[in-house]
Amino acid sequence: MEEKELTEVSEASTGAAYAAHWQEEEYIHPKPEFIGQANMTDPDVFRRFSLENFPDCFKEFAEMLDWDQYWHTTLDTSDAPCWKWFVGGKLNASYNCVDRHLAKYKNKTAIHFVPELEEDPIVHITYQDLYKRVNEVAAVLRDFCGLKAGDRVTLHLPMTPELPITMLACARLGVIHSQVFAGFSGQACGDRIWDSGSRVLITIDGYYRGGKLLDHKANADVAVETAGAQGQTVDKVLVWQRHPGQNASAAPMVEGRDYFMNEVLKDYKGAIVEPVSMPAEGILFLMYTSGSTGKPKGAQHSIGGYLAYVTAMSKWIQDIHPEDVYWCMADIGWITGHSFIVYGPLALAASTVIYEGVPTYPDAGRPWRIAEELDVNIFHTAPTTIRMLRKAGPDEPAKYNYKFKHMTTVGEPIEPEVWRWYYNVVGRGQAAIVDTWWQTETGGFLCSTVPALCSMKPGSAGPGVPGIHPVIFDDEGNEVPPGEGRAGNICIRNPWPGLMQTIWKDRDRFVSTYFGKYCKNPDSKDWRDWPYMAGDAAVMSKDGYVRILGRVDDVINVAGHRLGTKEIESAALTVDAVAEAAVIPVKDELKGTVPDLYVSLKPGFEASKELEEKISGAVSAVLGKIARPKRVHIVPDMPKTRSGKIMRRILSAISNKGDVGDVTTLANPDIVESIRVQVQGG
Ligand code: WT7
Repeated sequence: MEEKELTEVSEASTGAAYAAHWQEEEYIHPKPEFIGQANMTDPDVFRRFSLENFPDCFKEFAEMLDWDQYWHTTLDTSDAPCWKWFVGGKLNASYNCVDRHLAKYKNKTAIHFVPELEEDPIVHITYQDLYKRVNEVAAVLRDFCGLKAGDRVTLHLPMTPELPITMLACARLGVIHSQVFAGFSGQACGDRIWDSGSRVLITIDGYYRGGKLLDHKANADVAVETAGAQGQTVDKVLVWQRHPGQNASAAPMVEGRDYFMNEVLKDYKGAIVEPVSMPAEGILFLMYTSGSTGKPKGAQHSIGGYLAYVTAMSKWIQDIHPEDVYWCMADIGWITGHSFIVYGPLALAASTVIYEGVPTYPDAGRPWRIAEELDVNIFHTAPTTIRMLRKAGPDEPAKYNYKFKHMTTVGEPIEPEVWRWYYNVVGRGQAAIVDTWWQTETGGFLCSTVPALCSMKPGSAGPGVPGIHPVIFDDEGNEVPPGEGRAGNICIRNPWPGLMQTIWKDRDRFVSTYFGKYCKNPDSKDWRDWPYMAGDAAVMSKDGYVRILGRVDDVINVAGHRLGTKEIESAALTVDAVAEAAVIPVKDELKGTVPDLYVSLKPGFEASKELEEKISGAVSAVLGKIARPKRVHIVPDMPKTRSGKIMRRILSAISNKGDVGDVTTLANPDIVESIRVQVQGG
């Protein structure tokens, strides 16, 4: 019962009014100028990547990489649904993103680092510089920390070049990196250190955000303590310095545990570390993401399959050429940044931009000034940011002299009117747009138009990318035919190389979460029996384009950041006064959705503004600021079924000003009206 509720397409996401809002069937065609220079212009690509040619079609992706040893088996299904790609092959991800470009591009910029403070100079790191820095850091990890292939290292780093450098240094050794978004709290970082079993944490003293130098090192102390309390000892904390030679943190360095990376590096100047030749099926990284339970899950990504997949996506969908200046204004702490700031673009020898700070700092013209200054021609961001920039400075883009050939949107559904501003004002009606739908788990894009081959449809992600075959299933497992206008659970019929290998240390959760509902036969070794369930509701129109409606589980997408409602509720329950907590996603003009938190108190506690503050403060402390509820409602009691289950559907109707429906079967029907009055007034 519990399980079924999680996966049923919710009423909220399929409501008629909501659907009508998205019934846009306008096609916009890419411009000839774009098509003329695009990487993928062959319409035959969809036939080549049809299911008849599965899985061999994916060799074309892997051949974009340099291999030390060619694979013997393209897809091994013997441990279904933990698929193994390019088995027998060996390669190194750091070599593919750095070393192999030196012959042709060593003096070309690999990374343009834009500090948040406008008076600080932009730093241009060439492929040669990157090679040198990655090698030196790899030497520290290997020789100073004693790390070797297969070990895990947790990174808690913000948007500075030290983050990709550290990731690539790990990859060079076959060490598995687990980067935790810098905005997450020390406690959240500690939980991930523990789960991954990392004995080394790499952090930074401080970084700029909204014009302030934030003290970040203090989080490391909480993280180490949290991990330690659960039995995972961290014996080294390496601390980068935002301003080398100066410590930006008030937190003391712990003798024998904490080391300034910039100091340690002095002993490894000029060190060269041979890239370790790794099996394709080795693990490149873990990326923790939220699910239906309180415990985040470590999506485990492979070296060969993942890198092949993101490289192909960057080439065909993002249309990245080595001569492009590419800016993905997202955070490397999320999968978007791993795949499309670091691995994909660098594998293609692009120049990738890393911007440290807030998009609207010091004003809403900042992104366009950066684009002008660096000659950015490919731009990538999330609907939340687009909405924010549109609101704060709708006319700003016109003031700057830049030219985008291509733009991406990712992370949440984009409203057609926001899409149009992006297209007309930011892209000046010239740039091709791709709306890419995918997930942490999937490594790279699932649905998107191929920009030179398909027309754009505002508000619609598009068909499956070459090699991805989406299907919509109803709750009984019947296919919903395209064009019927009915929503269902979107699944992918086939495996692909970018799909995570499993959830770190939790194969059962991997199998049940993504395959449990629609697997045709759990003993089968045939991939056709294992459609991947993404956890989103979607509608497929006749042309095969997919419109994503939102999550069907207890995951909420705040400004494109994924949070589990259970994680937020558990954080609220750390406040002594709180008896029960329920989080409801509420539609928000800017952020898409935001969490509304309902709590009831233990006997003897009184509702007050201070207590509301304390509860939202506790959520920030446990998870990080992004999880902070928009509102905290302290209610006399939760609406409950007779069996004592909190009726979130009713709270959702109240928060979203919808119809609460029939409440007569509740254990406490009268509470509904009093909560409604409290939340909505009169
Ligand atoms: C969830 C995955 C993919 C990288 C960033 C988020 C939603 C993602 C789109 C899109 C509508 C989207 C889905 C998905 N989502 N892209 N283009 N249109 N919704 O990764 O944190 O793993 O979240 O984000 O609901 O399941 P994530």
